[in-house]
Amino acid sequence: MERLLINNIGLLATPEGNSALCGGEQGSVRFLRDAWVLCEDGMITAVGTGKAPEAERVLDAHQKLVTPGLVDAHTHLIFGGWRQNELGLKLHGVSYLEILAAGGGILSTVRATRAATEEELANKARAALDEMLRLGVTTVEAKSGYGLDLETELRQLRAIRRLDREHPIDLAATFLGAHAVPEEYKNDREGYIRLLCDEVIPAVVREELAEFCDVFCETGVFSAEESRRILEAGKKHGLIPKIHADEIDPIGGSMLTEAVGAISAEHLIVCPPEGIGAMARAGTVACCLPATSFYLGSTFAPVRDMIRAGVPVALASDFNPGSCPSLNLQFVMNLGCLKYRMTPEEVLTAVTLNAAAAINRADRIGSVEPGKQADLVIWDAPDLDYVCYRLGSNLAGRVVKKGKQVV
Ligand code: NIG
Ligand code: FE
Repeated sequence: MERLLINNIGLLATPEGNSALCGGEQGSVRFLRDAWVLCEDGMITAVGTGKAPEAERVLDAHQKLVTPGLVDAHTHLIFGGWRQNELGLKLHGVSYLEILAAGGGILSTVRATRAATEEELANKARAALDEMLRLGVTTVEAKSGYGLDLETELRQLRAIRRLDREHPIDLAATFLGAHAVPEEYKNDREGYIRLLCDEVIPAVVREELAEFCDVFCETGVFSAEESRRILEAGKKHGLIPKIHADEIDPIGGSMLTEAVGAISAEHLIVCPPEGIGAMARAGTVACCLPATSFYLGSTFAPVRDMIRAGVPVALASDFNPGSCPSLNLQFVMNLGCLKYRMTPEEVLTAVTLNAAAAINRADRIGSVEPGKQADLVIWDAPDLDYVCYRLGSNLAGRVVKKGKQVV
């Protein structure tokens, strides 16, 4: 048996439990001073204070802060090319949806992704994962959605599977074939939706390439009714629904959460009160992406209203080449406090246990408790306030994944 003891922890901070925390509980984090954590065969088996048990391998935390490994519950990790050319357009006032409608935006990344091999896609994403791990992220959700044809969607998902096997970070795969209508179906939306429902979803499930099905429910992309059809088709094949909702226009995406039983809804920048009510009733995790608001120069999701209404909130990066070219979840934590007015405790839950719940893993990761996977961060910080207050530096000192020090 492989035993690792992390001792001399100045402050251990963790949410508790096997499901998302909401309302007043969102910020109920357990703090333990002068603590230790025992890991055996990749799992946490004991947590305590005072005299620590013996172990062959010991990691001295030097009185620093320890938290669960961070979980990034929303990324578009796999893509070809970048889109730095859009920065100038943005600065000249061209909007995100205008760029997309002119065949740029997502559609330009689709062209670059179709031109890349599985190996090229995986290699590029591996470099991003290396950087995420150094920032303290130990689990990442990754979406397809830059293929928009059978072959390239499968290639993206196969790259995710390959990285899940090869990289220390665990990956959760989401099928997002409904990310845009591809150029060749511009005059046949119905044909594209049928292709997704009748051919691509069954092929994804046959190869066991994804756990979740997501749609971009937005003006000029997929309507609420189209989104519902696609998510229902995914559900029929066992894919759990997620929805990009209310990012730019509130066209009913957040209301759909209740109708389809979505595990999470994403963005929610302009989420109306009815959408918040639907998510509260459905127990949907609101996965908010403040770095995208920051990058798009838009407003910020009404997170305080969501917490007040009892909706569990997760925070994620949305890393992608268009609306958020950053993978830094620590920056997202800063923005959670500064822009959503969340407390550091609420933010910690949002990037650990609630993020784990958004990808159906709250029973395995997201807290430092016996029975959970031994994924932890030893911070170059004395306490949680310090992590949320310092801006622009990487404060993740050492990272433990499945009971092994990987950074
Ligand atoms: O979450 N909104 C849709 N998808 C991404 C953006 C993708 C892109 O611009 O390439 C998002 O913001
Ligand atoms: Fe996204």
